[in-house]
Amino acid sequence: MGDATTGFALRGTFMHATRRGEIEIMEDAVVSVDAQGSIGAVHHPAEAGHATAVNDARERGALHEFHEGQYVLPGLVDLHIHAPQWPQLGKALHLSLHDWLLQYTFPLEAKFAERAFAERVYTSLVDTLLANGTTTAVYFATVHVESTMRLADICLAKGQRALVGKVAMDDAEQCPDGYRDASAAAGIEGTRDLIAYVRAMPGNRGALVRPVITPRFIPSCTDHLLEGLGVLAEETACHVQTHCSESDWEHAFVLDRLGRTDTRGIADFGLLRPNTILAHSNFITDEDMELIGQTRAGIAHCPLSNLYFSNAVFPLRSALDKGISIGLGTDISGGASPSILDNCRHAITASRALEDGVDPALDAARRGRPASRIDFRTALWLATAGGADALGLPVGRFEPGCDFDAMLVDTRRAGSNLMVWEDADCPEDILQKIIYNAGRDDIRRVWVRGRVVNEK
Ligand code: GUN
Ligand code: FE
Repeated sequence: MGDATTGFALRGTFMHATRRGEIEIMEDAVVSVDAQGSIGAVHHPAEAGHATAVNDARERGALHEFHEGQYVLPGLVDLHIHAPQWPQLGKALHLSLHDWLLQYTFPLEAKFAERAFAERVYTSLVDTLLANGTTTAVYFATVHVESTMRLADICLAKGQRALVGKVAMDDAEQCPDGYRDASAAAGIEGTRDLIAYVRAMPGNRGALVRPVITPRFIPSCTDHLLEGLGVLAEETACHVQTHCSESDWEHAFVLDRLGRTDTRGIADFGLLRPNTILAHSNFITDEDMELIGQTRAGIAHCPLSNLYFSNAVFPLRSALDKGISIGLGTDISGGASPSILDNCRHAITASRALEDGVDPALDAARRGRPASRIDFRTALWLATAGGADALGLPVGRFEPGCDFDAMLVDTRRAGSNLMVWEDADCPEDILQKIIYNAGRDDIRRVWVRGRVVNEK
């Protein structure tokens, strides 16, 4: 197959969700990828250009043809993940958010002062995410600037598209002595240093890895820090991420401290901007939704984590119907899976629970919230184009001008849970089955900007 210096073409079945709720399945299509890893053309079999594209690439030895049972999907976007929490995946989920932060998470994150430990954990995490098809990840790291720089280095070296944030948190009442920024000024300067470092990384062509301004959440930050980060966001035009109205405790804490909702507070500090990613946002009001929509900020829906820490199911359909940009997040380790496909399933399940309700002691008519469900089409869109749109990045679709970030799913792997019956399953059934049951080992190859970043 041709390499990144010449460009190449792929021929096979491509499946994507270009708009919410709509999928497109392109059988025997040819996708041409240029030397920069960007999609130059997509040819359907009926088009005149199809045969020419096949022949040209074949002559150059740059045509890769997939066999029956193989499908190419866009790479997955994880809009919200805590890289340092990787060692505690699947642990400590019996606690409330507040107790979990104090007893487990802050002590674990404090260990990332040690660079060697950070490198070991971050290397393992990035490898695992790529193997699961996550081609873009939006990371919270820790307060430590040095080890956060190493996370950016590792993403770039392994070819993962990433937004990397040094966590800012300075409130002495809410953050432990051993784990916080020494002052608001230190949090702002550390963030500024990280932004400069990531933007200047050698080899960071086309800003594959980007910095993101990352106040942990309002409860752990002083007003001074939040204001300073808002000014820095304006000055650097950097992405921003934070947690928003996640749980009853967190939502009430902010109302009590600021007399405003999280969203309003984040906006007033200058942190609600186009492509700001608000994690969770379970308790946002209608006015908050309006504000998020008008600002063109986005929400990272973390359906698995929410079942443990959030005390409620995010009203996904209401937010989508208001036109808000939304993608999915694993929220490792609040969520105990590194897989965005898993989170597609949890998003569907949570939406069904919200629609029907969960307490059998209540009458069916009073049990749930009507019109809340999503299906696998919307789940795929959230996991790919939805997340990409929230970030303003040109990925998530097989369209000319988009970067080729993709994964190859093989539905014929012996020993897989993914069962396709070719005489009974239409292409749409096969896509649905992939969303419900494809696992890490069914994802045979992963590309970011045309570069193979994982192969099994
Ligand atoms: N709110 C503040 N920090 C965190 C975190 O690490 N995980 C989750 N789920 N919520 C948070
Ligand atoms: Fe989180």
